[in-house]
Amino acid sequence: MIKKTMLCVAALSFVFSFVAVGLSMADSGPAEMTLVTADAKKPATFPHKKHQDLMGCGECHHTKTDDGKQGPYVAGQEAKCISCHSAKDEFKNNAHKRCKGCHKDGYNGKTGPTKCGDCHKK
Ligand code: HEC
Ligand code: HEC
Ligand code: HEC
Ligand code: HEC
Repeated sequence: MIKKTMLCVAALSFVFSFVAVGLSMADSGPAEMTLVTADAKKPATFPHKKHQDLMGCGECHHTKTDDGKQGPYVAGQEAKCISCHSAKDEFKNNAHKRCKGCHKDGYNGKTGPTKCGDCHKK
């Protein structure tokens, strides 16, 4: 009986330490990514961490309002772009608008790469 209780306590504290780590370190997603659409002809490299160091999460992530409009960024609700932008070419067009758009206009005076091969590396 005592042995069983001890095991239970050990198991519980193990679970709790996981929850605590999960809470203290919000999920920032992968540092490096390869973004692809369904047919995956042109994967795009995306240094996620590098962008996180430059700007806020809400520059790219957002939510969806009940009436289907673009909602504000909510921490912890980052989702795959394609989970909402799933229509044909929608992710491509939005990615080009957002990624290339900022690279061209610049962010805090810093521009990014705009040539196809800069993102779609061979
Ligand atoms: C700043 C980064 C960036 C640049 C520059 C860029 N793209 Fe993209 N492109 C993306 C991202 C991100 C996606 C969506 C993910 C994916 O499918 O690769 C995408 C998607 C695509 C797709 C659809 C993917 C597929 O498999 O069919 C095509 C086609 C494409 N881009 C062509 C181009 C061409 C042509 C250029 C140059 C005129 C270009 N892109 C420049 C980031 C970029
Ligand atoms: C420059 C744009 C950009 C910025 C800034 C950015 N992200 Fe992302 N993030 C992305 C893209 C693009 C993806 C890939 C989504 C996909 O796979 O469709 C992603 C994916 C993620 C994922 C994984 C989502 C999933 O379900 O796979 C998490 C978590 C995440 N980001 C958290 C963050 C947090 C937290 C910040 C701020 C500290 C942040 N991101 C800043 C563009 C960005
Ligand atoms: C929870 C759903 C959801 C997710 C996840 C999401 N979006 Fe959106 N996004 C929307 C909605 C809704 C709109 C407004 C309607 C529209 O333009 O499609 C929008 C609008 C946009 C626009 C403006 C389009 C325009 O024509 O002005 C861009 C660019 C964009 N999203 C890029 C992204 C990127 C990049 C990601 C992934 C990092 C992402 N979205 C993730 C729901 C989402
Ligand atoms: C709000 C602005 C902004 C958005 C949105 C953004 N970027 Fe960037 N990106 C930058 C800036 C600024 C740099 C240059 C960073 C530097 O030189 O230190 C950069 C650099 C890059 C680089 C080159 C990194 C290197 O090490 O040379 C790639 C690849 C890239 N971005 C891909 C993307 C993709 C793909 C997306 C969309 C999913 C995206 N970016 C969205 C601002 C942005």
